[in-house]
Amino acid sequence: MARGKFITLEGGEGAGKSTQCTALAAVLRDQGLEVLETREPGGSPGAEEIRELLVHGSAGRWDAQTEALLVFAARRDHFVTRIEPTLSRGAWVICDRFADSTYAYQGYGRELPLEPLRALYRFTIGERQPDLTLLFDLPVEIGLARAAGRRGAAERFESLTSVFHERVRQGFLAMAAAEPQRFAHIDATQPLEDVTLEVRRSVAARLGVPL
Ligand SMILES: Nc1ncnc2c1ncn2[C@@H]1O[C@H](COP(=O)(O)OP(=O)(O)O)[C@@H](O)[C@H]1O
Ligand SMILES: [Mg+2]
Repeated sequence: MARGKFITLEGGEGAGKSTQCTALAAVLRDQGLEVLETREPGGSPGAEEIRELLVHGSAGRWDAQTEALLVFAARRDHFVTRIEPTLSRGAWVICDRFADSTYAYQGYGRELPLEPLRALYRFTIGERQPDLTLLFDLPVEIGLARAAGRRGAAERFESLTSVFHERVRQGFLAMAAAEPQRFAHIDATQPLEDVTLEVRRSVAARLGVPL
């Protein structure tokens, strides 16, 4: 059985990641593929417990290093118990945020150096990378307004400043420019249906599935 493909969705708050994650999982399932739709932080029972620590409470609850270690602890549990076993039995995994969010939020946003974060990636995940990373890019203010319009209480990261979110955005853009073979840059200001279409086209072109 061929190994499944691993697709990650990245971008700031309110960019449309979760909406597009569900839509993409549905079109891939229509093609007869088995798909695990998952998210970070979280995605496995152990990692969801760590997620609670990360997304609730005051913005200053954790310093940047502690936050990075919690994120990678959650990621390893998720990867080892769910992502890797799913890929190795030939199913696809679509993950709403993954390691690029750590580089963007704790690295560019909280201004931790990137190299220790990359070392933590190697320590917890190893050499494997996503087969495709969809970056949903849009101006910070539009994203935060969309996120605020969503149902439910604002989460911890949404309460950080626009300056922080702008660093996060620029970080994602820099990473996408540095790794164009892995990243597909998607203009998330487009109407929802147009974004959905662009996602399907990117996945079809990059991963060779007829969508
Ligand atoms: N292209 C779009 N145009 C307008 N609104 C959108 C678009 N994509 C998503 N939304 C809406 O914006 C809000 C945030 O979308 P969501 O998928 O939760 O973003 P994220 O997971 O990236 O934070 C939701 O209410 C969603 O319906
Ligand atoms: Mg989301």
